[in-house]
Amino acid sequence: MTEGFSEQIAERYDRWYETPFGRWADGLEKALVGELLGPSPAERGESSILDIGCGTGQWGLWLAEMGYQVTGIDISESMVARARVKLGEQATVEMMSATELEFADNSFDHALMVTLLGFVDEPEAVLAEAVRVARKSVIVGVVNGQSMLGTWYKLKGMLRKRDYKRPHFYTPGELARLVRQVVSASGKSGEISWRGALCLRQLLWRRSARCPFRGFIGMRVDLEGHQSTGSDADVK
Ligand SMILES: C[S@@+](CC[C@H](N)C(=O)[O-])C[C@H]1O[C@@H](n2cnc3c(N)ncnc32)[C@H](O)[C@@H]1O
Repeated sequence: MTEGFSEQIAERYDRWYETPFGRWADGLEKALVGELLGPSPAERGESSILDIGCGTGQWGLWLAEMGYQVTGIDISESMVARARVKLGEQATVEMMSATELEFADNSFDHALMVTLLGFVDEPEAVLAEAVRVARKSVIVGVVNGQSMLGTWYKLKGMLRKRDYKRPHFYTPGELARLVRQVVSASGKSGEISWRGALCLRQLLWRRSARCPFRGFIGMRVDLEGHQSTGSDADVK
């Protein structure tokens, strides 16, 4: 499955970030994840973060520029090669499976995975590993399966011949149930909260708006037992 993330796909990923939609969506997704991460590393001392399924390093670069001490891992050789070029000395990038992270328990302040979970065969194992290596929080970003964007991607996936596994698009409730189940099995305790970004109103009026069908969901598991983000949408 993951071997399917070839050089061709890696190149396509980087190109998407340069399209008008890609730039718009990326900006809103990063703003949302930034809110979930809370105060910047400079404000609270050094903060380490593991970017799981780091792809071509788009998120790693943003995190490094904010002052995070970034480690990225990905199973695809092509993705890792591109991430290493993009990040240079600003981050460490390793080829590794998200189901078997080669890091000790509580090695990082935060663990982040953006649009990874829908692509893996063992989402529980991936989440469990993230919870194991993170001290403060785990942040999961997914395309919302009950949004217009998720529906569009699903339709596109059905019509097109794909050269990699068709992703699963989580709904917020489904993701919350999975995260809650993994956290409770981990022996750690965690508060879960989430927010959404990307909806038609944001596209038309270019400002943040409440919308029941936001295309991108950012979910935070706060392993320190408190929420630092002022989330507007706690999990029911
Ligand atoms: C949709 S891309 C997202 C990349 C990046 N997070 C971003 O948002 O730009 C999914 C990434 O997860 C990686 N991946 C898939 N399964 C993985 C696994 N089991 N372990 C580590 N990485 C994996 C793929 O190689 C790919 O780079």
